[in-house]
Parts: sequence; C-alpha cells; structure tokens
Amino acid sequence: MTTNLKTTFAGLKLNNPIIAAASPLTATAEQCVELEKAGVGAIVIKSIFEESIAHNSQELSDMLSHGEEVDYLDGYIGEQMVSEWKNSLVSIKAACSIPIIASIACRSIETWERYARTASEAGVDALELNLMNVGRCTRHTPYGEIEHHLAHTVEVVRKNTSLPIIVKLASNMTNPAALVDRLKACGANGVVLFNRPYPVDIDIEKREYTTGQVLTSAYNLATPLRWTGILSAEIPAMDYALSGGVQTWQDIVKAVLAGASAVEICSALYHKGIDYVAEMKQGLEEWQQNHFEESIDTYRGRMNASKGQYAKDLLRAQYLHFKS
Ligand SMILES: Cc1cc2nc3c(=O)[nH]c(=O)nc-3n(C[C@H](O)[C@H](O)[C@H](O)COP(=O)(O)O)c2cc1C
Repeated sequence: MTTNLKTTFAGLKLNNPIIAAASPLTATAEQCVELEKAGVGAIVIKSIFEESIAHNSQELSDMLSHGEEVDYLDGYIGEQMVSEWKNSLVSIKAACSIPIIASIACRSIETWERYARTASEAGVDALELNLMNVGRCTRHTPYGEIEHHLAHTVEVVRKNTSLPIIVKLASNMTNPAALVDRLKACGANGVVLFNRPYPVDIDIEKREYTTGQVLTSAYNLATPLRWTGILSAEIPAMDYALSGGVQTWQDIVKAVLAGASAVEICSALYHKGIDYVAEMKQGLEEWQQNHFEESIDTYRGRMNASKGQYAKDLLRAQYLHFKS
C-alpha cells in the first residue's frame, strides 16, 4: 500500500506534518535551508518581539548616558529592527521552497498591524501570532478581558493581511473552546496548542529566580494532546498544530489521532539534531503502512472527543479511580 505524509494546515499544503517551531534554530536563511534539506514540512521563523525595541533602546541610551533620548531611540531602533526582519524574511523565502511562516509577538495594536503588513510585503506564506498573557493576569483585569483582547488582536491582524493567520495560544485560558470558536470567527485559520512561556525556577540558596527546563520532554505532551482531542471535536472547522513535548514519531501519530494536522517541534531538534527529522518521517510512514492509513487525513481526529469512548478519557480530570 502506498502512503503519503502530506497534510494541510491553515490553508498551507505541507509535504509532511513536521513543522520546525519558532526558535533560534529558525533564525537565518542558512538554518532554514538546512531544515528544509532535513525534511521538515514547513518552518516558523524565530519571532520578532516588539519588546526587544524597548530593551535595545534602553541599553543604547544607558551606553550613551542620555536618558531623555529613549523615545527617539525607540523610533530609530524600531525602524531598523523591522527593516532587518523584513530583509531576513525575504531572503529566507527566496532560499526555501517549503512554506515559511513569520512569527510576531507584539504589545500594541499598532505594532500588530505594522508587523502583519510587513510580513505580507515580505512574501511569507502565513503569519503566526505568538500570544502570551502572563503579564495581563492581574486582579484588576475583568473576566473575559484577555480573551476579548486576543480576539480583537486577530481581528486587527486580519484587516492588515490576507495571509493565513495561525494563533499560538497560551495554555492558561479559562475556556479554550469558546476562545477558539471566536478566533475562527475573527479570521484565524489555525491554532497552535500551546505556546510555552519562558520557564522559571528558583535557586533556594541564592533566593534568585533562574531559568527552568528550557527544553521539553515526553511529560509535556499530555496537556496539548488532551486539548487537541477536545478542541478538534468542538470546533472541527479550525486547523490544529500540536506543540509541546513531541519527541518521537510515535508522538506525531498521537497528535494526529487526537486531531492535529501538524506538529510544531523544537526541543526534539535540540536534543537529537535536525537529521532526526528523517527518522521521524520514516517511523510515521512505516506506522501508516502497518496500519493501512493512506494519509494523515485518514486518521486525523479518529480519537478526538467527538467519539463517546474517547470523550470519556479526554474529559476525565479527576484521579478518582487511580490505582497505584
Ligand atoms: C530556545 C527556545 C526558543 C524559543 N523561541 C520561540 C520564539 O521565538 N517564538 C515562539 O513562538 N516560540 C518559541 N519557542 C517555543 C517553541 O516554538 C515551541 O513551541 C516549544 O518549545 C514547545 O515545543 P517543543 O516541546 O517541541 O520544544 C522557543 C523554545 C525554545 C526552547
């Protein structure tokens, strides 16, 4: 039986479901060419962060000891950063033939608009919105405000680009189903479950915050797997990519069975090197052959919550019947 790994995610046609997630491994055209050669289906370019502008201009201002010039430097550094980013997207697009996804992380609505337009002009294939809401969780933030803000962001970006919009969602949402439904209505074409905030730890001797586990392990798969299974049943019109804890080809099979069209991987590439992609593809292909699955589409979502027997497992939250 002939099988293939082709899939579609957020309107993008991919040769296989392995997307290199945004990280320092996807920053330059040279790296992207190597990733394409290694066999990934698409690449999300390392995010551009609006907050880097403030950070860089403060550093420069401190160096020049002219505190009052920070505003001016913001404008200057901002221009420079966006122009370099655009050039880099153009060169990555020219060097690669697989879909290239630009990733943006902004604070102000004006910047979301501007970066969305710039990425479109650079000719990338899709836009990923790197959304985090840790900083917005205060006791003064009314219920629903964060969701409203995310939906508004997607609406604004949609007005500024005709590219497919992929939303990389934080995992700490109250009701991801209602949110994804709204994001779909606002013009999002795909959702990544989930974004991963920078990990913290504590050095208990120095009483300092340190960096936690930067790279994930198999343990991290459980949360995105559950929500892919639930959301792909609740809002089947949305496309899903699972991100977080995918370390092996078996994890990709699980992601697809739960309802994902693709996976966005990063830690596995750090742990095992980019040549590991070929092994993942081979494992996936052999599994499909052994299980008579012609393509990703034939088993995508087969184990999501739309089937009663699987809903029971996915919705089980308490350790009620756990036996050690
Ligand atoms: C070193 C490092 C840098 C990252 N940089 C970004 C980034 O620029 N933008 C982004 O959206 N995600 C970023 N991520 C998150 C990854 O894209 C990915 O979603 C996350 O690591 C979960 O996937 P994994 O379990 O395969 O690592 C980064 C992750 C790591 C480890």
